[in-house]
Amino acid sequence: MKQKRSSFTGKIGFVLAAAGSAVGLGNIWRFPYLAAKYGGGIFLLVYIILAVTFGFALMCAEIALGRRTGKSAIAAFGYLNKKWSFVGWLVALVPVLILPYYSVIGGWITKYISVYLTGNGTAAAGEGFFADFTATTGEPIVWFLIFIGLTALVLLFDVSKGVEQVSKIMMPILILLTVGIAVYIVLLPGAYEGVKYYLMPDFSNFTIATVVAAMGQLFYSMSLAMGIMITYGSYMKKDISIEKSVRQIEVFDTGIAFLAGLMVIPAVFAFGEGGEASLGKGPGLMFVTLPKVFDSFKGGHIIGVAFFIMVFFAALTSSISLMETVISIVRDKTGLGRKSACGIVFAGSVIIGLPSALGFSIWDGIKPLGMDILTFFDFISNSVVMPIVAILTCIFIGYIVRPKQMINEIEAQGATFNQKKLFSVMIKYIAPVFIVLIFIFSLCEAFNIETLFGIQILK
Ligand code: PFF
Repeated sequence: MKQKRSSFTGKIGFVLAAAGSAVGLGNIWRFPYLAAKYGGGIFLLVYIILAVTFGFALMCAEIALGRRTGKSAIAAFGYLNKKWSFVGWLVALVPVLILPYYSVIGGWITKYISVYLTGNGTAAAGEGFFADFTATTGEPIVWFLIFIGLTALVLLFDVSKGVEQVSKIMMPILILLTVGIAVYIVLLPGAYEGVKYYLMPDFSNFTIATVVAAMGQLFYSMSLAMGIMITYGSYMKKDISIEKSVRQIEVFDTGIAFLAGLMVIPAVFAFGEGGEASLGKGPGLMFVTLPKVFDSFKGGHIIGVAFFIMVFFAALTSSISLMETVISIVRDKTGLGRKSACGIVFAGSVIIGLPSALGFSIWDGIKPLGMDILTFFDFISNSVVMPIVAILTCIFIGYIVRPKQMINEIEAQGATFNQKKLFSVMIKYIAPVFIVLIFIFSLCEAFNIETLFGIQILK
């Protein structure tokens, strides 16, 4: 970046900004449907273990790398070692892949706001409403364009600070709403089975796919392996504790995902006609279940509007940080002005996003690796590119720049780093080996390879 690097003000500024990027559709839309699909309690358990070990180490590493170099992701690797500049490029690919389909889901959220505002909450609770909506050709595209258009407008007129202010107010309301809705659902008849499924790990549900999905979700939810935390680290002041901040972001991010799961999964049991059969619904899960909840009590539709508006803001702050990242890459590399870069990124994202929006209607016959197009983009970014970036980041920090340099950065100005042993061991040994393994497994799963070197991979 050419302009002077700004920095976050106050101790809490960094945590709030990073949490604003981390908390988004990943927590509220993605986490519950994955937990439902991949074994409930066992998924939750695996996710939490990964978050406090692996997620912790990688987030510390990325933030320290950013603060140490004072550079964004694309330049940080090359700055410390020329030969490693290519990782910066790979990192840059992630938001390019995520932003378009993220905005398609953002479009679905926007559609649901309009459904509730126009008094159609009961229709939304009807069977097939969501499927019918995504099966139309034009509608999902229009909502997708509205959502990504709004994101672009915010950046074009440089009002993202304003949106951040608004979302700072929205976030606590979102948490309160989620807690309230979750409590209501948990107490419903039939919900108990769902609470059990979600909270009590059943080891017979454990598969490699559970770990693969949990790992991909971890990257996504904590905004890791996509350069965001490196950039944020470059804005972070030296007198703020990286370790404490990471712990806070982690608790916050995982807490919201946990609550969203507690809201959606028991609701599947209380309302889902198919009961457990609905658990595998995938990306549509939240859109199918929650309207039934909002339709089940007096005033529920108002809660529905409020809920989707809050989620909209959480999604918007995330899509803004994704688009901002892509714009700054385009500007750094082309020297274009803000407006032109914004136009190019908008147009490019629309083109990349259209297939995801059409994958449930006229292109529903196109199933790369057996997935709908949106899930395919999600798979490529979360299960392919991000693990590769994470492995390279670990090798880079573990063996090229050495963990010591990062530890020194984390301990700058006398800050303590209690978990430095865990950090070094994770980054050097456990994380790279582990990610390579699950990366291989995830490819086997995608290509339906049942055994590898005589080892049974798929159940
Ligand atoms: N972490 C965000 C979420 O959980 O929704 C997704 C995300 C936001 C990823 C911003 C990347 C990003 F730059």
